[in-house]
Amino acid sequence: MPKLRIAIAGAGLIGLRHIEETQRSQSARLSAIVDPSPKATEVAGKEGVPIYKTLDALIAKDRPDGIVLATPNSMHVEQSLQCIAAGIPVLIEKPIAHTLAEGKRLVESAEHANARLLVGHHRRHSPILNKAVETIRSGILGPIVAVVGSAVFYKPASYYDGPNEWRTVAGGGPILLNMIHEVGNLRAMVGEIVAVQAFTSNATRKLAVEDTAAITLRFENGALGTFLLSDTVASPKSWEQTSQENTDYATYPDEDAYVVMGTDGSLGVPTMRLKYYEKKEDRSWYKPFKEKTIPLERADPLALQIEHFAAVIRGDATPIVSGRDGLQNLRVTDAIVEAAKTGKVVNVDTD
Ligand SMILES: NC(=O)c1ccc[n+]([C@@H]2O[C@H](COP(=O)([O-])OP(=O)(O)OC[C@H]3O[C@@H](n4cnc5c(N)ncnc54)[C@H](O)[C@@H]3O)[C@@H](O)[C@H]2O)c1
Repeated sequence: MPKLRIAIAGAGLIGLRHIEETQRSQSARLSAIVDPSPKATEVAGKEGVPIYKTLDALIAKDRPDGIVLATPNSMHVEQSLQCIAAGIPVLIEKPIAHTLAEGKRLVESAEHANARLLVGHHRRHSPILNKAVETIRSGILGPIVAVVGSAVFYKPASYYDGPNEWRTVAGGGPILLNMIHEVGNLRAMVGEIVAVQAFTSNATRKLAVEDTAAITLRFENGALGTFLLSDTVASPKSWEQTSQENTDYATYPDEDAYVVMGTDGSLGVPTMRLKYYEKKEDRSWYKPFKEKTIPLERADPLALQIEHFAAVIRGDATPIVSGRDGLQNLRVTDAIVEAAKTGKVVNVDTD
């Protein structure tokens, strides 16, 4: 089967990773780059593909089989609508939109047009996350009662310097930048989040945005969760540093980012260490658990996401992360921001 032609808009931090994975893909190849920056022209030259300064210019000249939007958040909706109008399937980086209202507008337009649209919550393609979901659904943990999770790390000064100064003001804090990934993980493992509460603090970095947040969650199935988020602590208890899925980060394979707890067992993720009672009558804190580590075959979720996008384009798969799913991740993240601001419990709507 000939490889699908994928154009990538935005050749920045994550766009370069998409370019790399598209070029390595079994099912797709890079057909063009869209990015007005001089650096992107160099990248296109190196990759041997045409460069366009705007999406309009690309669509006027060429018709790729799919487009990846790895552009700034505020461009996601308009550029996705352009792809939809041209009938070209689109993979949009997270967040689906910069506001909930704009996200809804996009999802409704996409559904109306029956468009093929995938949102880039790439962790949903992670073999670790999928194995955790499979284990939880197998029932070995019993009904899920609680989850404890964390995304705690130390972001270096360079993360906030010079052109990155936007991360020090509204819109740049770890709730909006990092928590949306965690929301996707939590929803996949435990179910829909229906209410949240949150405290935030900027006492350590003293920036206009939070550096730390303590969040409590209520899930539709009755389970409760706590989540600790901080970008200013010397701790490895984050997906980034424990999953080994992105080797740019220092890795601590012996640590967990989550523990999912049911009446019969608990699972550490990503170590996949399972502690459980074999028989209901053994359930007691006086009795030792049975213990095992669930085996995993690791793979890069960004690579798997491109293969999945190709399958969606071909009509062989429905999006694992649909527009509605991306919108729900944004809705929960927005609710956490609102809860921190008001000090109140914020209920989260679902469609
Ligand atoms: N999935 C992930 O883990 C992950 C990680 C990082 C970023 N992201 C998301 O990816 C998106 C890009 O983030 P980034 O960190 O790569 O940003 P970045 O600033 O490094 O890159 C953005 C690129 O878009 C280009 N650009 C600007 N205007 C454009 C236009 N009109 N058309 C085409 N290109 C244009 C810029 O020149 C730049 O090269 C954001 O939505 C971000 O939330 C996702």
